[in-house]
Amino acid sequence: MKIMKWVPLFMTLILYGMFVCSSNAAFKPVDSYLLACGSSHNVTFQGQTYIPDLEHSSVKLSSQANSLVATTNSSAPFPIYQSARVFTRSVSYEFDIKQKGHHWVRLYFYPISSAGHDLKSASLTVVTENFVLLNNFTFENFKGSYMWKEFAINVDSNSLSLTFIPSNNSIAFVNAIEVVSIPDDLIPDQALFLPSTSISGISELALETVYRVNMGGPLLTAQNDTLGRMWQNDVQYLHVNSSATNVSVSPSTIKYPATVTPEIAPNWVYATAETMGDPNVANSNFNMTWVFNVDPDFTYFIRVHFCDVVSQSLNSLVFNLYINSDVWASVDLSSLTGGLDVPYYKDFAANSSDSGVLTISVGPDPVADDSSGIMNGLEIIKMSNEARSLDGVSPVEHLLPPSASKKKHTAIIIGSSVGAVAAVMMIALFFCCFVSHKSKTPQQGHSWLPLPLYGNSLTLTKMSTVSQKSGTASCISLTSTNLGRFFSFQDIMEATNKFDETMLLGVGGFGRVYKGTLEDGTNVAVKRGNPRSEQGIAEFRTEIEMLSKLRHRHLVSLIGYCDERSEMILVYEYMANGPLRSHLYGADLPSLSWKQRLEICIGAARGLHYLHTGATQSIIHRDVKTTNILLDENFVAKVADFGLSKTGPSLDQTHVSTAVKGSFGYLDPEYFRRQQLTEKSDVYSFGVVLMEVLCTRPALNPVLPREQVNIAEWAMTWQKKGMLDQIMDSNLVGKVNSASLKKFGETAEKCLAEYGVDRPSMGDVLWNLEYALQLEEMSSALAEPEDNSTNHIQGLPLTSLEQFDNSVNMMNGANSGTDDDAEDATTSAVFSQLVNPRGR
Ligand SMILES: *[C@@H]1O[C@H](CO)[C@@H](O)[C@H](O)[C@H]1NC(C)=O
Ligand SMILES: *[C@@H]1O[C@H](CO)[C@@H](O)[C@H](O)[C@H]1NC(C)=O
Ligand SMILES: *[C@@H]1O[C@H](CO)[C@@H](O)[C@H](O)[C@H]1NC(C)=O
Ligand SMILES: *[C@@H]1O[C@H](CO)[C@@H](O)[C@H](O)[C@H]1NC(C)=O
Ligand SMILES: *[C@@H]1O[C@H](CO)[C@@H](O)[C@H](O)[C@H]1NC(C)=O
Ligand SMILES: *[C@@H]1O[C@H](CO)[C@@H](O)[C@H](O)[C@H]1NC(C)=O
Ligand SMILES: *[C@@H]1O[C@H](CO)[C@@H](O)[C@H](O)[C@H]1NC(C)=O
Ligand SMILES: *[C@@H]1O[C@H](CO)[C@@H](O)[C@H](O)[C@H]1NC(C)=O
Ligand SMILES: *[C@@H]1O[C@H](CO)[C@@H](O)[C@H](O)[C@H]1NC(C)=O
Repeated sequence: MKIMKWVPLFMTLILYGMFVCSSNAAFKPVDSYLLACGSSHNVTFQGQTYIPDLEHSSVKLSSQANSLVATTNSSAPFPIYQSARVFTRSVSYEFDIKQKGHHWVRLYFYPISSAGHDLKSASLTVVTENFVLLNNFTFENFKGSYMWKEFAINVDSNSLSLTFIPSNNSIAFVNAIEVVSIPDDLIPDQALFLPSTSISGISELALETVYRVNMGGPLLTAQNDTLGRMWQNDVQYLHVNSSATNVSVSPSTIKYPATVTPEIAPNWVYATAETMGDPNVANSNFNMTWVFNVDPDFTYFIRVHFCDVVSQSLNSLVFNLYINSDVWASVDLSSLTGGLDVPYYKDFAANSSDSGVLTISVGPDPVADDSSGIMNGLEIIKMSNEARSLDGVSPVEHLLPPSASKKKHTAIIIGSSVGAVAAVMMIALFFCCFVSHKSKTPQQGHSWLPLPLYGNSLTLTKMSTVSQKSGTASCISLTSTNLGRFFSFQDIMEATNKFDETMLLGVGGFGRVYKGTLEDGTNVAVKRGNPRSEQGIAEFRTEIEMLSKLRHRHLVSLIGYCDERSEMILVYEYMANGPLRSHLYGADLPSLSWKQRLEICIGAARGLHYLHTGATQSIIHRDVKTTNILLDENFVAKVADFGLSKTGPSLDQTHVSTAVKGSFGYLDPEYFRRQQLTEKSDVYSFGVVLMEVLCTRPALNPVLPREQVNIAEWAMTWQKKGMLDQIMDSNLVGKVNSASLKKFGETAEKCLAEYGVDRPSMGDVLWNLEYALQLEEMSSALAEPEDNSTNHIQGLPLTSLEQFDNSVNMMNGANSGTDDDAEDATTSAVFSQLVNPRGR
């Protein structure tokens, strides 16, 4: 019987739900009360008309006239604050609710000066039937002159009451009230509680908006938002304001998908954003951080709005979102939305940090290129606590005066039991909608889920058999054992002067890198892993495994490691001149000559060629970029950072299937699409490096006009026109042999071919770069005949060099030795044979 009774309601809910889910029309609130309290005439504010509170036919006031005093003063900051209703005892406004569900309750307070009352010291307590909205608030200790509050209340009966309770011998007041329906799908029931849980039941709680921010955009008011919300600009909350740069596009370019409506947020929110500021700095590894003061005794619902309005191509924007110190990692908007300019939002729940603030940051994803990150909008909403309060720990029953609370009590019990059934059904309905919505959007991989950090699976056991007692002076030579020296944590502390921040060389995805000095005076680079990063452990392992197998003049050598005290520390040879990137841009270092650039590219290409062909099984680096090419004191280039390396396909395979990793801006589009890794993915990334070396700008620069953001695309359009010289580094203009530049451009173009099969092997690339260098040296030799270093090519006719071009494939797999010195010797022998005319 009981069930039967509810069937009609259930049916209505379902029908209603279907209607809402399928309707695309602009939202029209069913219930909409705008009251100018204490006013005798209509008040227009932000394009809306507020009606005097006593004149509204569907609003009842539960009190005798003598407890209701109207007061006005026209010198208020806004028209809405010019009048107030003053209560000398508890008074309720009763609103007829035609449509159950969430409603905004917005309250306006301004203690206007009036003859009879001291509103500044008035104590304000406001409750609904079930929830405490304000408890004993007074303007006496308040910084602002007026206050505006927005709540969202789930109304499950035919009326909503708002009760204003003055404290003993005091008064209460209010200037204006709004009660307006909210679309059903605006407030979800669940949200992700980072790092790894979620909370549910949100739709049953009372919510209070504490911050609603339009990142990088203008103030939006009720006139600009179909739900009458206000969105502030974010600059006042930015921790370091230069860390962010505002961007905007025309709001009409925003393409709402089926899952996001303008009610979620207006297009003005999605059309403006903050992106990572000044991406040209050498260490662009920083976060944009916003800091919000919050009441630490509450849990907050946080909705973050994203829309990629900066990228030129899909999948070029990947970043991490942090809430306090918890990360939602590798946010790739393109894969979440399937397009650019498509809005996306994500709901979280979080507590404040210990210091009573919520910090929200967006920063580079360690596996992506350094400079990306975006945020378009942010809402921080307080959720009611166990006492069903948004202010303090007293429940409604304790605040209502004794007489009123008795009468209300029965009403609450009836109301809530009726409500509970309806709520369960609503939740079920919500859940269905939620699940069906979710299943349409690709699921974000929960790669951040914590895994056992130092489990037995870590394959370091082999290394620890060669562990040395700390302090032994002898450094195990890599050449003899191919295994690194084991350092004690104490050794590392001494070498780096206790991780002195002044010795910091850089910060990477894996952790921080310090300069250190061993007891024998050798300079080393000490890379200290971030133990929180699961990716870090995998990379740590890979890097030790890879580097212990590899030795080459153009690969950075591992000297040893330390895994004591849950530390993951790698010790490398020190590369005095740091990453190639800082010699290209961002660090004010002297500009490299064309010849130096070619030699560096050749060195790096040698290192990669060795990786691909030198070892028994080929190795794919997977993260080739200018920050991973390091220069020693003689500007000899060495490839570093094997954290993402994978052994390549074995003979019977053509590729390795793997999750896409690497740095955005350098990522092979074919690898990205098909998730099949071959050596040609490194070749593509190397092509990006070549363009970067020529143009001295980052692979991705989101602040540039769209067509220029991605260097691979931008440079290719110019290369195809044969006009690469138009966008090359201005320091090189007029100082580069045009044949050399042409060869270089063609080589980069081939590397950047859409399909791997069309790209040259690293051996071909190496040879072509050698050739470009010869062309350059030849031209400078002709210009300065005295230059001994280039004497041997003097007078070499161009045609014979062109012939070598056809023999390019000879380099392919030319050698497969594992001894680096022998390898190097062979390589140079082959080269001198090919290049030196006298050798032929
Ligand atoms: C006040 O506004 C309401 C609704 O917009 C309207 O019906 C009413 O006529 C207005 N009253 C006056 C005095 O303008
Ligand atoms: C109106 O407010 C102003 C300041 O806010 C005050 O100086 C003035 O006395 C008030 N007028 C009345 C009639 O209370
Ligand atoms: C209300 O606040 C006032 C001053 O802020 C304080 O003196 C008073 O004790 C408070 N009352 C309650 C019931 O908390
Ligand atoms: C009001 O006074 C009564 C008795 O005098 C006291 O029990 C109650 O706590 C007071 N309430 C507030 C809000 O101060
Ligand atoms: C965007 O940044 C510029 C320069 O910093 C500033 O002048 C402008 O007011 C900002 N726009 C918004 C909407 O914050
Ligand atoms: C918001 O609406 C007001 C009034 O229509 C208008 O003047 C203002 O330009 C709008 N702001 C934006 C950002 O559209
Ligand atoms: C950063 O913000 C402060 C205060 O809001 C302002 O004085 C300063 O000019 C801002 N700096 C930049 C670079 O916008
Ligand atoms: C960004 O902020 C998070 C959280 O505070 C922190 O863990 C991370 O290291 C920061 N990233 C950078 C590059 O500073
Ligand atoms: C968050 O804060 C609430 C209220 O203070 C507390 O009950 C809850 O346990 C906290 N959750 C976490 C994960 O700290």
